[in-house]
Amino acid sequence: MSTLIINIKELLQVRESGIQKVSGKAMQELPSIKNAYLLIADDTIIDFGPMEDAKGITADNTIDATDKIVLPTWCDSHTHIVYAGNREQEFVDRINGLSYEDIAKRGGGILNSAETLQNTSEEDLYKQSIARVKAVMQMGTGAIEIKSGYGLTTEAELKMLRVIKRIKKEFPVKVKATFLGAHAFPKVFKENKQGYIDSIINEMLPQVAKEELAHYVDVFCEKGYFSLEDTEQLLKAAKTYNLTPKIHVNQFNAFGGVALAVKYNALSVDHLEELNNDDIAALKGSNTMPVALPSCSYFLSIPYTPGRQIIDAGLPLALATDYNPGSTPSGNMNFVVSTACIKMKLTPEEAINAATINGAYAMGISNEYGSITKGKKANLIITKSMPSYNYLPYAFGDNHIEQVIINGTCI
Ligand code: NIG
Ligand code: FE
Repeated sequence: MSTLIINIKELLQVRESGIQKVSGKAMQELPSIKNAYLLIADDTIIDFGPMEDAKGITADNTIDATDKIVLPTWCDSHTHIVYAGNREQEFVDRINGLSYEDIAKRGGGILNSAETLQNTSEEDLYKQSIARVKAVMQMGTGAIEIKSGYGLTTEAELKMLRVIKRIKKEFPVKVKATFLGAHAFPKVFKENKQGYIDSIINEMLPQVAKEELAHYVDVFCEKGYFSLEDTEQLLKAAKTYNLTPKIHVNQFNAFGGVALAVKYNALSVDHLEELNNDDIAALKGSNTMPVALPSCSYFLSIPYTPGRQIIDAGLPLALATDYNPGSTPSGNMNFVVSTACIKMKLTPEEAINAATINGAYAMGISNEYGSITKGKKANLIITKSMPSYNYLPYAFGDNHIEQVIINGTCI
């Protein structure tokens, strides 16, 4: 099956193969072709260029993209999209004055979601989760990382990871799984934190590895959650199973988690709402991608990740949703891109780079996703008619997407 897209007003994020990520000043460049065509064969981009070179090219289907922009689908490198129930009561409690920390301290927050998930069957968890997966695909997400971490028992963590594995098998969206057993300390381990860490290391990790349920390991390295010492124990253990770290750090406090993650060759460090010069220094020269989650800052009314400072320091930056029931009940990457421009002062070029090629890097898939490159997967967004790509983040809150193509198929 082949598809030819013609008369594309502007084809964005056109890259040679071999580019894994873009950093610093290079993030200001978004290579494009005006009045372009693009040819897909099966699930792969096989050719593209200016319209004058399209003469003689034929295909099974032709899509006319006059006045429309075509770009790669979003690569959402940080989500907790598999969860049970919701936490809208905590949302109301926060409006009425409680903080996210207050709610967690009284046993709500992650523990609230864990209790609900433990009491939800695997089938029901799958059904609840795929409704969200379908919705984010419609909103232009073509690759997604999904974390466990609302189980907090061996049985429930494995249940989550099996649901993720099933989504990966049954949906065209590219899925990468992350094991986040170290998301919070369950109530029964409140006075025996080491006991929970031991159960992650001795029970969960071996089973996750045996069933090949995750590529990555995550830890919520934060005051009141997992300390630097806890995190290091977990990363050491995960390394013996070849699980690469992607770490929740610096959401509320900066105390050395970034340097620790870099020491363990983390693929990404995510959140970074609180960031100091030592953190920036630790990231320089590393292979670790900083990831900002502006919808989380928006929803919790916490500071935005200083993305401008990160990019101006010559570093790369990726953007992701953090889709979860507590801090970000939204999987809309279009909103993330707009918010990064509006609140973090990223230019549209920087934000689109951060949400495509750099997002792909932050889940280890930039050889196949994240840009318009011959040989990469045909994962594309075709916009509605628009004056320029700046309009995408500018007219925030509107749906600008006319068509999403994943693996060469219109969804
Ligand atoms: O990334 N910060 C840790 N984990 C999630 C939120 C968890 C929750 O509140 O359910 C996050 O924001
Ligand atoms: Fe998260």
